[in-house]
Amino acid sequence: MSDGRRVGATEAFVLANTALIAPPHVPEIRLHLADEAHELWHLTEEQLQEKGLPPPFWAFAWAGGQGLSRYVLDNPHIVHGKRVLDFAAGSGLVGIAAAQAGARSVLCADIDPFCGPAVALNAAENAVDVGFTGDDVVGTDDGWEVVLAGDVFYDRAFADLLIPWFTGLAGRGASVLVGDPGRAYLPKARLTQLAEYQVPVTRALEDADVKRTRVWRYT
Ligand SMILES: C[S@@+](CC[C@H](N)C(=O)[O-])C[C@H]1O[C@@H](n2cnc3c(N)ncnc32)[C@H](O)[C@@H]1O
Repeated sequence: MSDGRRVGATEAFVLANTALIAPPHVPEIRLHLADEAHELWHLTEEQLQEKGLPPPFWAFAWAGGQGLSRYVLDNPHIVHGKRVLDFAAGSGLVGIAAAQAGARSVLCADIDPFCGPAVALNAAENAVDVGFTGDDVVGTDDGWEVVLAGDVFYDRAFADLLIPWFTGLAGRGASVLVGDPGRAYLPKARLTQLAEYQVPVTRALEDADVKRTRVWRYT
């Protein structure tokens, strides 16, 4: 941090365990992300658990988020002048892209306590203003005009919660857009494809170098 303000313990953890990296599919955005030079990268799930740390989703730019961010930046009318929710924000990548594309307001939501500081640091790095909530917003409706969800259909129980919520939001007229690299619980029957990308990813996470990633409109 160059402004000399006191950093909290979680913010300090984010800074100590990440490097500033541009996600390959969204090179105009720089994020504090895990890399091989830092310990966090090398910790197994068991070692994280022993340290009382949740899996650091916030420290990676997931394929779904990269694809959705690319789509928002290349199609700014989707969010321009609108109130946007970046649901399951992680690093805040998608919300930052929405802010760059001219959203009226952006709220990033994620229940991982590391995400608030990570999103704040990443938003500051990209000189955009985004809000954050650590509340569980699933099932709620604050009148968002656009709901963006990058890489959320990786877990059955989570998908079971999201499907009725997204259906309700889309049904009352919100634009609900999903970025997804073929996760197991993607509800394809409810989706219309908007774009397809080949997104470079981290082999250690995905067991692949590139993931075919699609952006969908939830209907
Ligand atoms: C695979 S990551 C995707 C992060 C980001 N959207 C991206 O694409 O890079 C999934 C995220 O969902 C978040 N998550 C899980 N359950 C959630 C809930 N009930 N509300 C908000 N976020 C949640 C996790 O904390 C994690 O940050």
